[in-house]
Amino acid sequence: MADRNFPLTGFSSLAIHEGHIQDPNYAHLTPIYASSTFVYDTAEQGMRRFSGEEKGFIYSRWGNPTMHEAENKIAAMEVYGLDSELPRAYLQASGMAAISTLMLSTLKTGDKVLSHYSLYGGTQDMANTLLPALGIGAIIADLRDLNKAEDCLKADPSIKMIYLETPANPTIQCVDIEELAKLGKKYGKIIACDNTFATPYLQQPFRYGVDFVIHSTTKFLNGHGTAIGGVFIGKDVEFMNTYAYKIFKMLGGNSNPFDTFLLINGMKTLELRMDRHCANASEIANFLSTHPGVSKVNYNGLETHPDFAVAAKQMRHPGAMMSIELKGGLEAGITMMNKLKMCTRTVSLGTCDTLLSHPASMTHYSVPKEQRERYGITDGLIRMSIGMENLPDILADLDQALI
Ligand SMILES: Cc1ncc(COP(=O)(O)O)c(C=O)c1O
Repeated sequence: MADRNFPLTGFSSLAIHEGHIQDPNYAHLTPIYASSTFVYDTAEQGMRRFSGEEKGFIYSRWGNPTMHEAENKIAAMEVYGLDSELPRAYLQASGMAAISTLMLSTLKTGDKVLSHYSLYGGTQDMANTLLPALGIGAIIADLRDLNKAEDCLKADPSIKMIYLETPANPTIQCVDIEELAKLGKKYGKIIACDNTFATPYLQQPFRYGVDFVIHSTTKFLNGHGTAIGGVFIGKDVEFMNTYAYKIFKMLGGNSNPFDTFLLINGMKTLELRMDRHCANASEIANFLSTHPGVSKVNYNGLETHPDFAVAAKQMRHPGAMMSIELKGGLEAGITMMNKLKMCTRTVSLGTCDTLLSHPASMTHYSVPKEQRERYGITDGLIRMSIGMENLPDILADLDQALI
């Protein structure tokens, strides 16, 4: 175990060692604490635990040693290199559970959320159905236009939160976290950011003034596609330890020790994996941008992408997610998916292998064409999560699959 007084200066050192709690049997790796409850030596000790006088685990929905290690590791990565207090994180059963806990612990009837129009489908659904059913409104605007964002804030004082997702699904659009956080603070709003596509290695929203960060840990943080998970992180530790903790316990969307064990081991290689994912993605975007079968490459690392400058400002590297539009529309999309020889046909993202999905025939099959096209999901759009295979093999597979 690393000496607590030894300063960990590198991102991987932190990702590998931070948060580790040495168990009493000196296991090298974090044990899977598969226990629903924790015991007390005496009734008095139980009383001290419940009153908060003595630190210790009580019940795994409220907290668990395996989960606690992952929570502290992610929190430390989100403030790596920043001169700030360690935020408080709660590990959740999924990214959607993290978003639900965030929304339900910060918003109430009559409040509104302001968000960008390119959002993960589940979050969009929540904004369209669950939040309105609770009397919480959602205003969806193009938050890349800061004047428009300010107009929305001026026009509607009931906006309580600005919710960002950057880069966003599936157009890879980016919004300016720093400018939107400044604007939000000027009007006294809460700022939250979904950092799933970037991970804390590529982007740290707390650096730019946001209050809350959420992740679907299912993706690059786990890195191997072995578990669904999420995390809800807040920099106001007092709020996180009190009201947010109460709501977290009440909603019961906690993770579990086995999935957390997989997550902890995945996160140790985050830097190495992201470097390889990103290096491959840059080369692939360049290759596809001159390919005759491709009419458009949505990758924020290309100077032609409208959000190139914003991505360059706030991200270490533009990341490993991209989408392309095929000249041949729906038919070309289906053909390309069927011709893949090595890359994987599936939804989700952030695993070792390169994943391709065709929203028009898969995730958005039941969404009317006009509606999905409004969000940039055209017939020939293919979304890609670039993996860590050797670059020539990915290039060769994509090239032979494209018409
Ligand atoms: C950006 C983003 N946020 C949140 C989620 C939801 O995560 P989960 O599937 O772990 O609930 C996803 C899922 O794809 C996502 O892509």
